[in-house]
Amino acid sequence: MKTWWKESVIYQIYPKSFYDSNGDGIGDLKGIILKLDYLKELGIDIIWLSPVYASPQVDNGYDISDYQAISKEYGTMEDFDCLLKEAHQRGIKVVMDLVVNHTSNQHPWFIESRKSKDNPYRDYYIWKEGKNHQAPNNWESVFSGSSWQYDKQTDMYYLHLYSDKQPDLNWENEDVRNDIYKMMRWWLDKGIDGFRMDVINKLSKVQTFQDVFPQTKKYMRPSKYVSNGPRIHEFLKEMNQKALSHYDVMTVGEITSCTIEQAKQYTGENEHELSMLFQFEHTDVDAGPYGKWTPVPLDLVKLKKILTKWQYGLQEEGWNSLFWDNHDQPRVLSRFGNLDYMQDSAKMLATTLHFLKGTPYIYQGEEIGMTNYPFTSLDEVRDVEVFNAYQDLVKDKKALTHEQMMKGICASSRDNARTPMQWNNENNAGFTTGNPWINVNPNYKTINVHQQLLDPNSIFHYYQKLIQLRHQMPIIVYGTYELLEENHPDLYIYTRTYQDEKLLVINNFSSHEYDYELKEFRYSQLLISNDQCDKIHDILHIKPYGCYALLQKM
Ligand code: NOJ
Repeated sequence: MKTWWKESVIYQIYPKSFYDSNGDGIGDLKGIILKLDYLKELGIDIIWLSPVYASPQVDNGYDISDYQAISKEYGTMEDFDCLLKEAHQRGIKVVMDLVVNHTSNQHPWFIESRKSKDNPYRDYYIWKEGKNHQAPNNWESVFSGSSWQYDKQTDMYYLHLYSDKQPDLNWENEDVRNDIYKMMRWWLDKGIDGFRMDVINKLSKVQTFQDVFPQTKKYMRPSKYVSNGPRIHEFLKEMNQKALSHYDVMTVGEITSCTIEQAKQYTGENEHELSMLFQFEHTDVDAGPYGKWTPVPLDLVKLKKILTKWQYGLQEEGWNSLFWDNHDQPRVLSRFGNLDYMQDSAKMLATTLHFLKGTPYIYQGEEIGMTNYPFTSLDEVRDVEVFNAYQDLVKDKKALTHEQMMKGICASSRDNARTPMQWNNENNAGFTTGNPWINVNPNYKTINVHQQLLDPNSIFHYYQKLIQLRHQMPIIVYGTYELLEENHPDLYIYTRTYQDEKLLVINNFSSHEYDYELKEFRYSQLLISNDQCDKIHDILHIKPYGCYALLQKM
């Protein structure tokens, strides 16, 4: 089915780091309003706003204390209404983050819940008795350590798959579900255009709460008991029926892991659950022995295999999200690109992604070539995930030295994506007149929006052109994908086919040069490239980090 959210490009804003309008060092809603014309110029269709709800900010807003209020550092509900109106006036839609696997421990539901065993809100969360004065089972939190927190008030433990300040909601409780749907409709009635749903495949837990076996370490990741659980499809169908189906909106489910078959169930047209899913198999491609903290060099063949599995898997049924970056990932330019070929590798990575089948996402700063931050000390870090992992891997387990962990933080920490947006070469990159809540990347003097807008060959203008092409050419949205040269170690080449057109997309992930025989594409039209080739010949000379999209009429 053809639909607007397949034809769109989504731009993710991490409000805390986007633009600060009042000099308190923290980005805010008014700041976003001031930059809407910039986004309009880029050409994106939809903004996904990371959480702006009231929150103690333990996990930068993914710990919500009031779903129907705006966090004071971001502004007011009037500011939000104004943002929505101003965005809509420019033809830009707004998608909100929906974080309903857990709340903040400061949410009134949890404050009530922990008071007593017979409190009416007790069953809004997941409470269990300990086992021999220990946690109820061996489950590990995503942010390290046990996923149970002891609460002395009632001498019981509550479940938190993330930090101990983010207790998990009990979705088995119908009242919880109905309260959430009511809250969703309140936002939808305001006129928002959809939701990005945080860790949405974790809502349904296997109710036996048993240990993970075999136990090879103290705490074990409980994926098989908490991901894609027994009632997940029932819950999502109910959510769709009771809230979403009454509006013309899009949803994107953050699915921490699932199979292609499960993905079809989540996003199949006749399933009435989600529009598309956001999964991470390709961003796990470089995980090493200690996961992201010890990354290994990119194996392109492996990356192609994963991306292709999802392209083929959801070719006929379901829909993919296409992304390299988000607020939980390091910057792709530092990760899979090459800083010696900054411009070219940034454009090549964009080309690889934007011509795949699915809806592309741009994470703030990606369009100007922002890179990872050179962390030298833990004082520069803000993310709760890093502190917990440091405690676990360096202090408790002594698995990594301080130096090894710092290397891991530089390569993979989420704070790499969270440094302020670089607007110009003035103080604090023009992000704030105050003290930024997290350091600005020192490379802002050369990498910034102002400079990118001046340069007609900039990464920004390349993204702008990619977006325009998508808006003009149905083949980019709906064409069938096919991988070529699957075992080539450096080149990612694929085709897209639609009606009487065929696209050939060639991307060089290396500093080597190659000659490629174009065969049926030798008379094609070059749609976009980071190379200067005015005429196409039988053989295409591919430069280091070169990228080429060629269109052939059949
Ligand atoms: C996924 C979000 O993207 C991440 O930032 C957050 O820490 C966890 N979910 C918990 O909400």
